[in-house]
Amino acid sequence: MSMSRYFKALCWFIAGSKSQRRRVRLEGARIAASLFGDFPIGEDHKLWLKDKTFRKKFAELSPLSPYSEERKWTLREFASFVQNVPGSMAECGCFEGGSAYFLAQANPQVKLHLFDSFEGLSTPTEMDNPKDETIPKWEQGDLSASESKTRRVLSQFKNVVYHKGWIPDKFHEVIDEQFRLLHIDVDLYQPTFDSLEFFYPKVSKGGVIILDDYGFSTCPGAFQATMDYIEENRISDHIITLTTGQGIIIKK
Ligand SMILES: C[S@@+](CC[C@H](N)C(=O)[O-])C[C@H]1O[C@@H](n2cnc3c(N)ncnc32)[C@H](O)[C@@H]1O
Repeated sequence: MSMSRYFKALCWFIAGSKSQRRRVRLEGARIAASLFGDFPIGEDHKLWLKDKTFRKKFAELSPLSPYSEERKWTLREFASFVQNVPGSMAECGCFEGGSAYFLAQANPQVKLHLFDSFEGLSTPTEMDNPKDETIPKWEQGDLSASESKTRRVLSQFKNVVYHKGWIPDKFHEVIDEQFRLLHIDVDLYQPTFDSLEFFYPKVSKGGVIILDDYGFSTCPGAFQATMDYIEENRISDHIITLTTGQGIIIKK
């Protein structure tokens, strides 16, 4: 920014209108973020940011993951999108129920099957190590959640069914079901691959698969598992990479 722009910004900040001050604050935040590396700040004035009910619930459910708000919103939108598609919903990796809450709420009359070890991650492999060595490697047991807390968070929903255990050990419990929505959020190669292998053929036409970790350099195994599954099974459905980091497949 040239000196005259700094001066203009300073004048706006001291004596400007409300909207000019807001703009200075936003630009200030952008500059501060860029000083520390690649931290993009999104556009302002998005309407979904005005949904106070959603935002309050999100803040309450995700104190440890305050930046996943856009992903949760997107997930809830897809849950509404599949309202008229036949089948249940499934989530592989529910942790403390943050994402499950929005799925269950969007379709309260549709069964939501939750699969989780409630003992955190299984054993990571070489494929799960981020290429960037400044990113910490995953370890077995990371992200372990208390099942009773998850049950408490989701207690108001009558449509939630729990399948506690290591993926894919409990998948047989839903062998006869069909699905309108599948959310995979297990961070690692093997459980991501196993989830796709079991559920992909069971997702109805027009149903949706949301791959939470697909576009994150922190989860290279989850991306690779998706690529391997797609290639091995000659799947032609396109994976839409969202700016939120999620990968989306709408089943043809
Ligand atoms: C990132 S958390 C899920 C977050 C949750 N979807 C949300 O948005 O609130 C990943 C979850 O996957 C579970 N998980 C990872 N590997 C697993 C495996 N092999 N079997 C069962 N659960 C697993 C962990 O226990 C953890 O709860």
